[in-house]
Amino acid sequence: MLKTHTCGELRTEHVGQEVTLAGWVNRRRDHGGLVFIDLRDRDGITQVVANPEVSAEAHAVASQVRNEYVLLVRGQVRRRPQGLENPELATGEIEVVANSMEILNSAQTPPFYINRDNKVDEALRLRYRYLDLRRPRMQRNLILRHKVVKFIRDYLDERGFIEIETPILIKSTPEGARDYVVPSRIHPGKFYALPQSPQQLKQLLMVAGFEKYFQIARCFRDEDLRADRQAEFTQLDIEMSFVDREDILQLTEGLFTALVEALSEETGKRIMCKPFPRLSYREAIERYGSDKPDLRFDMPLVDLSDLVAESEFRVFRQVVAEGGQVKAIHVPGCAHYSRRQLDELTEFVGERGAKGLVWLKVEADWAVRSPVAKFLSQAEIEGLLARTKAEAGDLILVVAGQPEVVARALGDLRLEMGQRLGLRDDSLLAFAWVLEFPLLEWNEEEGRWNAVHHPFTAAMDEDLHLLETDPGRVRAKAYDIVCNGWEIGGGSIRIHRRDVQERMFRVLGLSNEEVEANFGHLLRAFEYGAPPHGGIAPGIDRLVMLLAGEHNIREVIAFPKTQRAEDLTFGAPSPISERQLAELHLRVVDDKSKLTVGGDIHEQ
Ligand code: AMO
Ligand code: AMP
Repeated sequence: MLKTHTCGELRTEHVGQEVTLAGWVNRRRDHGGLVFIDLRDRDGITQVVANPEVSAEAHAVASQVRNEYVLLVRGQVRRRPQGLENPELATGEIEVVANSMEILNSAQTPPFYINRDNKVDEALRLRYRYLDLRRPRMQRNLILRHKVVKFIRDYLDERGFIEIETPILIKSTPEGARDYVVPSRIHPGKFYALPQSPQQLKQLLMVAGFEKYFQIARCFRDEDLRADRQAEFTQLDIEMSFVDREDILQLTEGLFTALVEALSEETGKRIMCKPFPRLSYREAIERYGSDKPDLRFDMPLVDLSDLVAESEFRVFRQVVAEGGQVKAIHVPGCAHYSRRQLDELTEFVGERGAKGLVWLKVEADWAVRSPVAKFLSQAEIEGLLARTKAEAGDLILVVAGQPEVVARALGDLRLEMGQRLGLRDDSLLAFAWVLEFPLLEWNEEEGRWNAVHHPFTAAMDEDLHLLETDPGRVRAKAYDIVCNGWEIGGGSIRIHRRDVQERMFRVLGLSNEEVEANFGHLLRAFEYGAPPHGGIAPGIDRLVMLLAGEHNIREVIAFPKTQRAEDLTFGAPSPISERQLAELHLRVVDDKSKLTVGGDIHEQ
């Protein structure tokens, strides 16, 4: 090593020692005579003093360096003069007086500040990601990510799990997104698909007898990217044999609890509720309008449908008659909302498909002020107050419509009001399990059933007999782990018998030929003693994002893609040569479809 110590290491106990440091110039201050350099490396910052009386050469070098120059400094550790200590720095009680200073490399002026945590255009950050990653926040995030993954590996290793790598060049594995495909040079007209997850591979490993498997697995999905979605992302993929649902829940919960607790000092995060609360999918939708509810606060959706079914207020009456719902949330202390604020909220739910928003302000003596008050009977108003448990000074917000619209509009409004009231405390992690998902959902566009999780998920035993007769009512042995409004992971107990898996494919509308072509390998494997098995896959990116206190997974990925799936550092995707195309038996037909590397990043 060129250096004897890191820039975060020196303390008063090192005073008097000769040390060598190497790193980047974080900041330079010329105090006429003395030059101060904050020298930075991954570990921290140390103040270096160049004093012409100690070393004229070192001082001359220090006078010409600029930010981000790479330096090698030899010098003596000294206690800072009284009153000049810097409590913000771990090394703030000492400084290094330079005896010699060597410029290992110079640097252009960076396109943005590296020594300040200010907001920078993300496209610029991504184009110069190697500079962005020098910033302390990004260093912290990636170091945290390393610790998370290491903790997971150790935890699972101690419990008898084996990490096995599975291929990236493989065949389509359906997880509901489009595949990324790779053309084969050796097999003209044939393609590999990159795995959307190692789902079938881990199931085959169970058939192979590994019993307890995990992998920090890269997954690829060509889907619309969002704050919590990347084209390629990382899962903690887990699979176990001879287990039931409870075993997977306990293992995952134990792991997450131990992980958060082990890292709590550096993340400042605390688990809100242990053991993790459990909700059925139905409860989650009914109570919070979402299958990934933010449980840091309650503010439940309250159903008023039966109460207002006969109401004089036409909107409510009609919606209920048409099979819709009338639901409300109760927002404490917001009766003071102005007309403009209420119009804003109406617009907010309108963007989510609601046709309107009824508001009621609860005043002293339970009097209710609302544009629709005159249409509501005393009994309706009393019922509404009783059900919502609203009190004087509170605001009640009501949406009527089809159940999906009410869930989305009111569910999002609940989050919005929780945010405004400061109820979404970022130091809390409100983990919860969502259970009993439906196995299938009707795909209106294609006129067929889709698997809600994936087609390998087992039905709940008591519902299996409905598979052909009433598919929509079959519940799955599936579970999601959610936290603070994000879906962190999902999994299920799998089908492990050929006949049941064939029934599932049939319900999904696959022909025998399609089943054989796409899943023949799995069905055959099930004929050779497949053990009962199940697993889960938490998303590492989302988990680290939460622990790092970030709101976008790009902040915890070293080289993420933009919203348009571009890598701005390398400029990928990019055209390939005619020769490569020919080798791959490909011809590009639509020139317009060639992507240009632009910088736009659109949040959805
Ligand atoms: P699922 O599709 O629910 O399940 O994915 C599991 C978890 O992976 C993360 N995730 C993503 N993270 C970032 N970007 C994406 N595009 C993305 N897509 C998914 C989420 C999600 O909860 N094979 C099953 C798991 C199983 O059944 O064991 C699967 O992949 O955190
Ligand atoms: P309208 O009958 O459309 O004039 O609406 C009367 C009031 O009811 C307005 O305050 C609307 O915002 C509200 N409203 C209309 N449709 C709905 C709905 N589906 N859910 C909740 N409020 C609604």
